[in-house]
Amino acid sequence: MRVTAHVFRFDPAANTGAWLESYPVDAFPDMTVLDLLFEVVRRHDPALSFRCSCRVGMCGTCTLLINGREGLACQTKVAMLGDEITVRPLNHLPVVKDLVVDMDPFFVRLRAVDASFHGDPARQEIARVVWEREDLLGEAGDCITCGACLSACSMLALDRGFVGPAALYRALMLVEDPREGEPEPRVARTLGEHGVWRCHGHMDCVKVCPKQLPLTKAIHSLKRLGVRWAVGARLPRQPPAGAAGAEARTAAGGGRRTASAGGERRGR
Ligand code: SF4
Ligand code: FES
Repeated sequence: MRVTAHVFRFDPAANTGAWLESYPVDAFPDMTVLDLLFEVVRRHDPALSFRCSCRVGMCGTCTLLINGREGLACQTKVAMLGDEITVRPLNHLPVVKDLVVDMDPFFVRLRAVDASFHGDPARQEIARVVWEREDLLGEAGDCITCGACLSACSMLALDRGFVGPAALYRALMLVEDPREGEPEPRVARTLGEHGVWRCHGHMDCVKVCPKQLPLTKAIHSLKRLGVRWAVGARLPRQPPAGAAGAEARTAAGGGRRTASAGGERRGR
């Protein structure tokens, strides 16, 4: 099958502005959009710039707007897209060159809510965590910092500073983490002018998250905690990791997932 790839091009050194360049490409069975871009590099223009790393949907670096919708290029099959395929960089992030965006504004948002794990530095043993909030884990149980949710979020058009779904999701996961300290400071950081109340629950983020994380649900949980914090109520705490009660609950089953201290809950 022959497809036409319409690829966003922008070279800051050329001073020509951005344009869409069209390339005919012979698609092979199971070809992904990432394969398609490599074909463009091989056969048409070796200067085309884009990002990728793992090629198995784990690293999040290949996220693009594919026919108008955010998706991982390495996981999106050309056969599902028809014979006209338009590929653009993510919204709301500065374009560095062609399809490459500067992810710094995304990571600045994570830092704004202190979305990194601190834990107890005195702990020697591996902390075993029992996740009481199975409902928040989604399919993969963790964010791969791909930026798709930020790009899709319609609230960014109204508030360029909105901290966004990924940062709020990560903040809630840390608030729920029994290895972490007091939840109040982190909840308070999510309540500012550009925080949780900017989310109107449109669920644009949920529709594009490649890990199917329940982002809007997490944001609503943070809003409830924020109200409790604002009226001076004590916030609920998870039992400490490895506590007898938590271990007993694991032994009793209940289908809860566990993670190690160095594993999937790391901030990045
Ligand atoms: S929450 Fe989902 S869409 Fe947003 S950065 Fe993480 S994995 Fe990507
Ligand atoms: S290359 Fe890692 S998710 Fe696509």
